[in-house]
Amino acid sequence: MNFEGKTTVVTGAANGIGAALARRFHTAGARVVVADRDAKNLEAIEKELNSIRPDSAFAVVADIGTEAGNVALIDAARAKFGFIDLFYANAGVATGTDLESTDEATWNAAMNINLHAHRWAAKHLMGEWLAAGEGYFCSTASAAGLLSQIGSGPYSVTKHGAVAFAEWLSITYGDRGIRVTTLCPQGVNTNMLNPTDAPAATTAVNSGGGSAVKASGAVLEPSEVADIVYDTIVAEKFLVMPHPEVHTYEKRKVDDRDRWLSGMRRLQARVVGG
Ligand SMILES: NC(=O)c1ccc[n+]([C@@H]2O[C@H](COP(=O)([O-])OP(=O)(O)OC[C@H]3O[C@@H](n4cnc5c(N)ncnc54)[C@H](O)[C@@H]3O)[C@@H](O)[C@H]2O)c1
Repeated sequence: MNFEGKTTVVTGAANGIGAALARRFHTAGARVVVADRDAKNLEAIEKELNSIRPDSAFAVVADIGTEAGNVALIDAARAKFGFIDLFYANAGVATGTDLESTDEATWNAAMNINLHAHRWAAKHLMGEWLAAGEGYFCSTASAAGLLSQIGSGPYSVTKHGAVAFAEWLSITYGDRGIRVTTLCPQGVNTNMLNPTDAPAATTAVNSGGGSAVKASGAVLEPSEVADIVYDTIVAEKFLVMPHPEVHTYEKRKVDDRDRWLSGMRRLQARVVGG
């Protein structure tokens, strides 16, 4: 896909990977609708992009953890810039730990934000895309969606769901002009990996997941990840795997699941609490 003159929507664009994606797509000549529930940082991104090219960015404060929030975002983006060429479901949360400590509300929020949001957005985009014979759906899942997330059941399950949904979307609609790309990184240097305002043991990262991620490979900058995502979308490939070692871990998992699970338990014992 060529980004020049295209309309893109990026969720979770007020911070981290989403902000970097919005900047990267904008640099390539796209109009960018930036969406997030963090109104303050979102406004700053909109201002930054519009100061480079007037009326090329549009901020929509949205809670994408509901179907209505996704519909309102898509409606607002279409009203502003018309046909949405590419929708990037990037917003996510790393909340929830084990079975004993994670309440229903936390499980539901993780399911809604990390997984159902992708489905709700795709559901409301697909009619127009199929009629046009084209459309590009992207998502940020995680290496946890291919492997697992030490310290967090909700994160592991929802990210596997996000990968499964992206694969299913590509299989089901790929021959009708719909392209799909999903991002599966390990550590990226964002607020999610380095939380400052969450009490210990309430998030995937604080309950050992962050240490496990950092122990498993390099921590990349959001702009490095955005460059790799951009190249993958231009090439219209499905999987973005910015940490190549994830491929090795995935192969080990497929080759011998029991051995892989033992290794994951050893890693967990090393990092939990640390
Ligand atoms: N940082 C990492 O190491 C890492 C690794 C793998 C995958 N990811 C994934 O990357 C994506 C981006 O995360 P990040 O690392 O940039 O973290 P981040 O916390 O900096 O950004 C996440 C953004 O999503 C927004 N958001 C969360 N819930 C929302 C909701 N209901 N409605 C609207 N916006 C909402 C937040 O306000 C925030 O701006 C997430 O899906 C995350 O799971 C991150």
